[in-house]
Amino acid sequence: MYILPVVQKQHGLFKASLLSAGVLSCAFATASLADQAVQGPVKPIEVNQAKAELGKRLFFDPRLSGDAELSCSSCHIPEKAFSDGKELSDAYPGSLGFRNTPTLVNTAYRKAWFHDGRQGTNLNDVTREMITETYLMNMDMRLMQERIKQDPVYVDLFKKAGLGEPSNGGVRKAIPEYLKTLTSHNSPFDKGEMSASAARGYELFKGKAGCVSCHSGDTFTDDMPYNTGVPQNTTIYEDPLRHVTYVTYAKFMGIENYMNIREDVGAYVRTHRNEDKGKFMTPSLRELTFTGPYMHNGTFESLDAIISFYNTGGGDHPNKDPRIKDLNLNALEQKDLVNFLKSLSGDPLTGPEFVPEEIDTEYEAITDWNNAVN
Ligand code: HEC
Ligand code: HEC
Repeated sequence: MYILPVVQKQHGLFKASLLSAGVLSCAFATASLADQAVQGPVKPIEVNQAKAELGKRLFFDPRLSGDAELSCSSCHIPEKAFSDGKELSDAYPGSLGFRNTPTLVNTAYRKAWFHDGRQGTNLNDVTREMITETYLMNMDMRLMQERIKQDPVYVDLFKKAGLGEPSNGGVRKAIPEYLKTLTSHNSPFDKGEMSASAARGYELFKGKAGCVSCHSGDTFTDDMPYNTGVPQNTTIYEDPLRHVTYVTYAKFMGIENYMNIREDVGAYVRTHRNEDKGKFMTPSLRELTFTGPYMHNGTFESLDAIISFYNTGGGDHPNKDPRIKDLNLNALEQKDLVNFLKSLSGDPLTGPEFVPEEIDTEYEAITDWNNAVN
């Protein structure tokens, strides 16, 4: 029997955001059959309600960005499972992004974040990066703290959450607590209500299509980077606003020849080893009906296009994973796989537990601010 290798999930595999070459290869060395096909509903995560309530308001509050125009929810939109429906993301005014905005549903389960997996510590650090990164929210944490301290609603919410007076550290605790509430539930897959076609698709997924060797576990990801040969999105290099963002990022990450590269190097930023060029994190496959366009650069519009991409052996790249090869699935089998993927989308997370009432930003300015105590 042909058995697909599976990389075992290991907590803390990516301790540092810039991984040493040794860590990546040792991750591959831990390959085992342990959690292949052990797939069930995503378990809800226990949260501190008061902290999550505070995090919810912060997530939707544009005052967290430099010019008070962008909130987390400008790019991570609840109706789109906290992605944005665009090929490539927007960015802080004056720039544009070079990556597809990922869903935040089940993000608390990830072992490393961003399409290249460069952030491997925790959601507290991811939150800091989103707020302070110039092309994202471009905010100075000290200014943010002073802004939210002026709003009596925050003063009250921070107290209730046991976080003392409004602080940047408190923001970075409360937002991750809110993110933990965003877990999938009630998909046809979880309820045992898949159509016959979707059920056949699941067998292919675990069997001859070989998908489960990377898309494993309850959230359908092994949290590892691979090269599948997804084509470049040339808009990144043609649109000056996107290009300048990518060049700045590449320079900051120490990429050689950053002015001239016309490739998103992916996980290479973590190791600077050529064999990691063009590797991207295996994404979760839950909530796909809400999250298109797909892949790290939004190149694919539909699930049908993705299945046809896999069926013909993926794209061209010297680092392509050997498991990405012609599958020779017939039209019905391809349809079954698409229907299976669709069965992994559950209830939208758009109710009042996930979205706050309108944020009232009208409040009395504090006179004699320098001497005020709160
Ligand atoms: C301007 C659009 C934009 C804003 C605003 C924004 N994000 Fe993001 N977010 C992105 C993009 C794009 C990525 C992927 C970046 C990459 O791969 O390099 C991302 C990635 C993430 C991830 C990692 C998800 C994963 O699975 O890897 C988390 C978590 C996240 N954002 C949370 C937040 C939070 C919390 C805020 C507000 C403090 C926020 N984002 C604001 C666009 C945005
Ligand atoms: C070698 C590991 C591997 C295998 C095998 C694999 N995938 Fe993937 N898959 C990935 C990676 C890595 C990405 C992200 C690529 C990128 O962003 O450029 C991805 C992306 C996807 C996406 C897009 C999700 C999104 O949110 O953008 C879908 C859908 C998908 N795969 C389904 C499948 C199916 C169905 C199969 C089996 C036919 C399969 N994959 C086999 C690693 C794999």
